[in-house]
Amino acid sequence: MSFDLWGEQAHLDPLPILARMRAEAPVARLLDPHQGAPEWVVTRYDDVVELLRDTRFSKDKRKLPAGAREMYFRVSELDALDKHMLFSDPPEHTRLRSLVAKAFTPRRIRELRPMIVESARRLLEPLRSRGEADVLEVFAFALPITVLAELMGVPVEDQDRFQGWTKTLAAPPDFDSLRRMAVEFHDYLVEFVERRRREPTGDLTSALIEAEELGDRLGTVELISMLFLLIAAGYETTGNLIGNAVWALLSHPEQVERLRGTPALLESAVEEVLRFAPPVKNTIGAYPLADVEFCGQVIPAGEKVVASLLSANHDPSRFADPDRFDITRSADKHLAFGLGSHFCLGAQLARLEAAVAVEALLREFPKLALTGEPTRWKEGVFVHGRTKVGVTW
Ligand code: HEM
Repeated sequence: MSFDLWGEQAHLDPLPILARMRAEAPVARLLDPHQGAPEWVVTRYDDVVELLRDTRFSKDKRKLPAGAREMYFRVSELDALDKHMLFSDPPEHTRLRSLVAKAFTPRRIRELRPMIVESARRLLEPLRSRGEADVLEVFAFALPITVLAELMGVPVEDQDRFQGWTKTLAAPPDFDSLRRMAVEFHDYLVEFVERRRREPTGDLTSALIEAEELGDRLGTVELISMLFLLIAAGYETTGNLIGNAVWALLSHPEQVERLRGTPALLESAVEEVLRFAPPVKNTIGAYPLADVEFCGQVIPAGEKVVASLLSANHDPSRFADPDRFDITRSADKHLAFGLGSHFCLGAQLARLEAAVAVEALLREFPKLALTGEPTRWKEGVFVHGRTKVGVTW
């Protein structure tokens, strides 16, 4: 059985392929399109939930059996940036997560709202004199990078470099670019953390330096890795969420009308976008440390397993008529932010940014519509976003 999850058809519409996988091979062994390494893809909602809670799978590459590590992790320059919680298991993960939780508080996120609203306004202002643009280019990705820079206390003039590094990380053109990015980004973060140690401010970086749990603190490598993770996990994802929201809403004009008529639907509209077009289509890999039986399949030690969040969110056993976009549905059980111990730390921030972005766009541009230019899903095994979202207003 073969499922071309990374081919041309998947970039046009992956849903029929995923439906076939759920029916015929719910735990399927495919080959990674770039590296040719085995990758198990779990597609049914219930199985995805089980996988994300299954402690037999490790996220820590340092524990992988010989051979597996070299097969999946080829860019050693990234090692200095990946001592973070997404690549760790308990008790290390628990320790890192409780330290960041001290700094990344719901209150800090709530307090960002005025800054996000103002950033959105500033980005949309110059667009008035134009009549047409690609939302991804002029707005969707500019907002999260501004927000992350503000949150972390990074100078505005460094934003372009940030954007370049995160873009390379999300969709590396080749291994050399990835290596270069890792080195430059690492050196930048080392210098930045040093500066904050000398001159603490009220930003998240200073709070992370200060964070202490039971007498324990983040070491420098952990601190740099944590900052790297926040940027890596928070930029491309949120940019695509905003892009997917504009695309999904404007491709369903009746839903936009509904939202304009009932602004209280904003939150549920964002949840439905997260369900319908989750910006992270697959979780990063988890690896069984010994051969395991999972949902009737034997998965050999060290082979990568990912959960298809896109497929789980379109599983008819969980969501009625799942391929229909409906902002009034109660989509709160979607898995766009994952589940279990690695559940997205930035979920509230992402929701807030998307809500502010959609609200600002609809308010500023009452005639907002898609240009109808062709667009499809981006290539890549992780991110799920449109290549372009052309709009007129
Ligand atoms: C729409 C936007 C976002 C989506 C769809 C998203 C999705 C996810 C998913 C699926 C995971 C779990 C990955 C896995 O298990 O392999 C995750 C983890 C994580 N996310 Fe997000 N994310 C978003 C935005 C953000 C933001 C804005 C931040 C922070 C600034 C963030 C920080 C993190 C961190 C730190 C983790 C690792 C948590 C852990 O390992 O305990 N994310 N995210």
